[in-house]
Amino acid sequence: MAFPFITAEQAADLMKNGDSVGISGFTAVGTPKVVAPAIAAKARREHEAGREFKINLFTGASTNDYVDGELARANAVNFRTPYQSCKDARAGINNGDIHYVDMHLSHLAQEMRYGFYGKLDLVVIEAADVTDDGKILLGSSVGNTPTLAHAAEKIVIEINEHIPAAIRGLHDIYTPLDPPYRREIPVYKPSDRIGTPYLQVDPAKIVGLIKTNQPDNVGGFTPLDETTMRIGANVCKFLIGELRAGRIPKEFLPLQSGVGNIANAVLHGLGESAEIPQFDMYTEVIQDSVLDLMEQGKCRFGSTCALTFSDATMERFFSEIEAFRDRIVIRPGEISNNPEIVRRLGVISMNTALEADIFGNVNSTHVVGTKMMNGIGGSGDFTRNAYISIFSCPSITKGGKISNIVPLVSHMDHSEHSVKVLITDQGIADLRGKSPMQRAELIIENCAHPAYRPLLRDYLKLSKGGHTPQTLCAAFAFHEEFGKSGDMSLTDFAKYC
Ligand code: COA
Repeated sequence: MAFPFITAEQAADLMKNGDSVGISGFTAVGTPKVVAPAIAAKARREHEAGREFKINLFTGASTNDYVDGELARANAVNFRTPYQSCKDARAGINNGDIHYVDMHLSHLAQEMRYGFYGKLDLVVIEAADVTDDGKILLGSSVGNTPTLAHAAEKIVIEINEHIPAAIRGLHDIYTPLDPPYRREIPVYKPSDRIGTPYLQVDPAKIVGLIKTNQPDNVGGFTPLDETTMRIGANVCKFLIGELRAGRIPKEFLPLQSGVGNIANAVLHGLGESAEIPQFDMYTEVIQDSVLDLMEQGKCRFGSTCALTFSDATMERFFSEIEAFRDRIVIRPGEISNNPEIVRRLGVISMNTALEADIFGNVNSTHVVGTKMMNGIGGSGDFTRNAYISIFSCPSITKGGKISNIVPLVSHMDHSEHSVKVLITDQGIADLRGKSPMQRAELIIENCAHPAYRPLLRDYLKLSKGGHTPQTLCAAFAFHEEFGKSGDMSLTDFAKYC
């Protein structure tokens, strides 16, 4: 091989305080395993010696504990974008140690190519293989790796021997031209391939290879409970209604499904429903439940940015990879989440809200308006451009002390203009063609928990009119009450206005 083998410590030694580092992967899969822990160890040594050491970290989306966890615990991150879902990184973001830019995942690649974030010193890429002329066979995700590799001055590759060579052929690497030269991105159905099965990089930039042999370390999901099952069943009920009404064609439309326990329950519900026909997915993450749906024949094809399987499911997938070769494509995030393609294909998006308000605005990111949970991820890329955009969440959380339906969201990620359908364990609010007041009545009666409906009706009665009957002095009374007593149900609007 044309490139020298180096150690993770030698790779970390390439880093100086303030450097910008790109990391391959998308979600917990496809992220390097050993260089980030070595950078964290270097940061600890530097801090002990009284010297500053922090890097700026660019990825495709969240990573695994080998990256965000290790670096956050070593207080080694100054700037982080575009997404994370790690408890230690979350703590660093919320206590001000990490400057976090939470952004639409499909935006970062183009913004980096235009130089909005300065120069990228190094990219660390996990791969199954690399050829002497710089053709990289990636692992189980693509993320922003093509652009990061193009932008970086130096490339270090972790060759993970755990990834079978048979993964070759699943990727479709395509980087669009930048404006004003961009043409249409020629994906007309989820299975269209438009690029190469490998990532071509400039071999002169590859400074070293490191051998690893480690799984991604992804655990399973929380088992489905009554609430998540009911949400899943309601999403199916809605989709079946649309199918019967002819608003979804009988061939069905490609589905996008978000991340987390609720998304998992929704997919489970689709599998259980006899009336939901076979479908394709045009999505950014394929989780365990999608592989089950593919095996059942319910899901025909999956276009994704990552195969975010638990370790056990990944082993199963690797051993049966030939059965999926023509049924899965792994794309860069700016293509898997591309607004042009989402709109063209008529994708039905299904994402999760932390809270929604009675007028149809959604908060996906901030707990009680201030504390970052994970980030917006790809939910906005899909929601804003979907044929039908669905958000779901439980009606109550923390044993009823939090109502997920509030008078006004404490932070807004998806506005009333983009949210078409809201679904909870209680029921369905189809917001299409409804005015703000009609939406409020529907959301309170169909989606809010019965224990919170009287309070939400009282909130509407405070209104002095207007197109959107908001009462500003009481709009955050639920959140204020939660801050004081820890229980939103004790809200007394009289105290606020
Ligand atoms: N206020 C405060 N906390 C809340 C809350 C609210 N309104 N709603 C939920 N929570 C808490 C839950 O109690 C739970 O806390 P715990 O971990 O202490 O038990 C936590 O938030 C996660 O809730 P859960 O019900 O398990 O949801 P999930 O795993 O389905 O995740 C999101 C939900 C919103 C956090 C997740 O979907 C997300 O990060 N979405 C944004 C990114 C995205 O949509 N990407 C999609 C494109 S793939």
